[in-house]
Amino acid sequence: MKGVILAGGTGTRLRPLTKMINKHLLPVGKYPMIYYGIEKLRAAGITDILLITGKHSVSLYTEFLGSGKEWGVNISYKIQEEAGGIADALELAHNFVHPGEKLLVLLGDNLFEDSLAGYVKQFETQPEGAKVFLKEVEDARRYGVPVMEGDLIKRIEEKPEHPQSSYCVTGIYLYDSTVFDLIKTVEPSARGEMEITDVNNLYASQGKLSYHLLTGWWIDAGTFPSWFEASDKLREYPNVEAAAPKSGAGDDK
Ligand code: G1P
Repeated sequence: MKGVILAGGTGTRLRPLTKMINKHLLPVGKYPMIYYGIEKLRAAGITDILLITGKHSVSLYTEFLGSGKEWGVNISYKIQEEAGGIADALELAHNFVHPGEKLLVLLGDNLFEDSLAGYVKQFETQPEGAKVFLKEVEDARRYGVPVMEGDLIKRIEEKPEHPQSSYCVTGIYLYDSTVFDLIKTVEPSARGEMEITDVNNLYASQGKLSYHLLTGWWIDAGTFPSWFEASDKLREYPNVEAAAPKSGAGDDK
């Protein structure tokens, strides 16, 4: 399975910090935010990863991640020229994923506790369709909100005023390779973006969108309160020592 991490966008809710640096490079604990998504994919056995970002700070990504070798993965990069929505960014991965191959898509600002390994294994054996990950949240109006029927999702409403459930659709998605055909049929939304929710709803309308509930904590770190919360949660990240410089004696003066 291939992995795609979306790390573009303008990060308006984290200004003025994001005036200077792309949101997904902001520090969370001892690592830049982007690190955690890469580590989640690697731990799930996904080592071929495409990172899609804007032009802003791209050299810092390559400086930190390089080819991915140091992190146990293979990273390729694609530039989204202008912020046009999640589905628009994902379209750039169409040559990276071969027909018949599956992919896991991660929004780079989604930080979470659950391991994806079991879900990835299970999805590999599924003949077709898509899967999203849900989390119960306090204010579902900020997110895509699912309307469920048994094991399937009937539809998703993007940032509804009156949410039909207290769950949000997180930025973790599993797709078969037909996702790229579906993206081509999506029109920009009222906010001028190609919405991933519209793509997911095409799967839902065919009865091919299922879900898992995340059991651990999950944070969309795109606002100051949630970014602080994420830093707090990941302060004691188990591998923190692995990132420390090996010969740093005397560096702290
Ligand atoms: C995006 C999706 C939304 C999803 C959220 C999760 O929203 O459009 O459906 O619930 O990510 O982080 P955004 O944060 O881009 O507004």
